[in-house]
Amino acid sequence: MFFSDEESSKIDSPNTSYTFESSKDWERGKVLSSLSRKEISVDEAKWEVFFYSDFVDLIDDNEVFCAEVLTFLTLAKKQNKSFRVQVTLKSVPLLLAIFPRENRIYLAGQKLSYELFAIKNLEKIEISQRRELMSDESYEEFKKFVQEIAALNPMDFPSVIEEVTLRYQLADPFEDEQMIKTQELSAPLIEDILKYTNEYRSSLFEKVSDFALGLTAQFALIRIHLLKFLAILPSLDHDKSGDVVKRMLQEALRRLLEDHTKAKELGKKGDERPLPRKYEWAFAFALMFVKMIPPRPLAFLVRSSVRTMAKRFIAGETIEEAKDAFSSLYSTKRDVTVDQLGELVVSEKEADQYKMEVLKLIRGFHLHVPRGEKNSAGIHRAHISIKVSALCSDFRPQAFDYTYQLVAPRLIEILTVAKEHDVFINIDAEHYDYRDIVFEVYQKVLLETAELKDYAATGIVVQAYLRDATQHLRDIFSLAKSRGICMPIRLVKGAYWDAETIDADAHGHLAPEFLNKEETDLHFRQLVIETLKHGDFLQLCLASHNFSDHAFAQALRSHFYPQAPAIEHQCLHMTYEALSVALSKMGWPVRNYVPIGSLLVGMAYLVRRIMENSSQVGVLTIMRSHKKRVHLSTPDQIHMQKKASGQRAQDQSSTVLSDQFVNLTPVRTY
Ligand code: 2OP
Repeated sequence: MFFSDEESSKIDSPNTSYTFESSKDWERGKVLSSLSRKEISVDEAKWEVFFYSDFVDLIDDNEVFCAEVLTFLTLAKKQNKSFRVQVTLKSVPLLLAIFPRENRIYLAGQKLSYELFAIKNLEKIEISQRRELMSDESYEEFKKFVQEIAALNPMDFPSVIEEVTLRYQLADPFEDEQMIKTQELSAPLIEDILKYTNEYRSSLFEKVSDFALGLTAQFALIRIHLLKFLAILPSLDHDKSGDVVKRMLQEALRRLLEDHTKAKELGKKGDERPLPRKYEWAFAFALMFVKMIPPRPLAFLVRSSVRTMAKRFIAGETIEEAKDAFSSLYSTKRDVTVDQLGELVVSEKEADQYKMEVLKLIRGFHLHVPRGEKNSAGIHRAHISIKVSALCSDFRPQAFDYTYQLVAPRLIEILTVAKEHDVFINIDAEHYDYRDIVFEVYQKVLLETAELKDYAATGIVVQAYLRDATQHLRDIFSLAKSRGICMPIRLVKGAYWDAETIDADAHGHLAPEFLNKEETDLHFRQLVIETLKHGDFLQLCLASHNFSDHAFAQALRSHFYPQAPAIEHQCLHMTYEALSVALSKMGWPVRNYVPIGSLLVGMAYLVRRIMENSSQVGVLTIMRSHKKRVHLSTPDQIHMQKKASGQRAQDQSSTVLSDQFVNLTPVRTY
């Protein structure tokens, strides 16, 4: 038996204790004694695969297995260094270690936890007992297997961008001549854009809110407590007396000051550092002030300040309120895409309400721009962005037919009314688990609704921060081609990064996005190339707050793909207004994404904007402050430097090995 009765099958480790049934222990012993070996041929090279007999069902299909590991084998040969990464075979995450010099592949359990746990405990029992489980030879072989995987330097992994480049056969951002040349060609365009951004004079409101956003960027303490408070506030609308608002605000300030003291004691660094004395005093004073003010006027003050702050990013509650934003755009020869705020609705009534709001927008658009008018990129000026998850209250990526039945009628109504009124409808991207089902619903609706067969004024978003975005782009291309209609694609980086990475890590999945910002930037450019290359059926609408992306795309099109449709340039409302205006002064077609709706439904949007503006990478802050003289390193340089100095972020699934229990990774049903 694995553990003797005297030990009562209980092993204490520093943090936890495990209890096994004897029969299971015995089975474990049997598994341990059978490390298996198999040979595979990939591109005429022979590789030895070592794994437990336990995993045999996962790698029995040679074709599937080779397809999964092929990219890694090629990269391993190229860099001639061993490394480990997590792979998923038949939905089961495993640790894959590759030793290119020996042509060996090892396959182990997630985080090596099962193996490390076994060794720790096999070391504890009497040798005679262990010999009952496995021969000395098998044990030594097993130990060597585990040690070799554990000894690999976690920093030797090939970058995800290298993997993706190879997997989808994209332009190599470190070597591709066209990419390098385009970078050179875009330099004079960047100079021009910056000349115009420097002419921009921000309003007092922008300056003040930039300052506040800067503070949230510098201090995680402020950011966290502000976001928590903001997330709660809209749900306190019932609190007419203001008692709850007052209590919540007091608590937020008190916790902020407590966390500040803790940060001081722990000597926290970076953006987690304690607040400087002047801010500490300011917050202590604010807490005192909050305690003194009666709840009702305090709640009024708080709500109106938050509404003012929200106005930075949300143009108004209704299209009428957003009129100022519209006229300032039109006067600078820019257009809008109106986003009717709403997502992840919780009742069918709400979904109907969202649909009605969108229909109202469509029907009223002619009050703002003449019907059917197009911009210089040939795209409708009347343009609306919608989130498909707001079209039903029970959105289930794993149940296509069910979700389709709920969503399709509302989506069809929106698209047919839009066709009738000559308005463009763009489908926004959302969380990763919704991406494919949203596209499939949209595709089915377009292909199977007779009235929509020739409806051309519609497009969809591609998020470049996703590792598999190329596949999505290819699917969209096939749809456009099969309809015989060129489709505008809004290429973005992506707005849900924090939520997705935290969620993936917690469940033991690889993050669906790149973890290093510059990898997303490189991938974005690879997708710019892919879109322009397929200009017969795709039109690039480039949404970014990085001026070099806009210059890159323009330079690429004029030198290499002049036959591709004109590029439309997009920015978010009031996020980097200087850039949006400058792009228009360059004579390029520009469109701003302008959200309208109430604070409650817009809160998730507002939180995303604050996160974006206060991101650790601080792209927006860098962009705004580098206006005057840019000497920004290019993303490929940044990545190379990070690689050389061992600073690349990577999935924890292959860096953190542990002999502790690891939760079973839930199957991704999407
Ligand atoms: C968002 O809702 C702009 O669609 C993007 O965050």
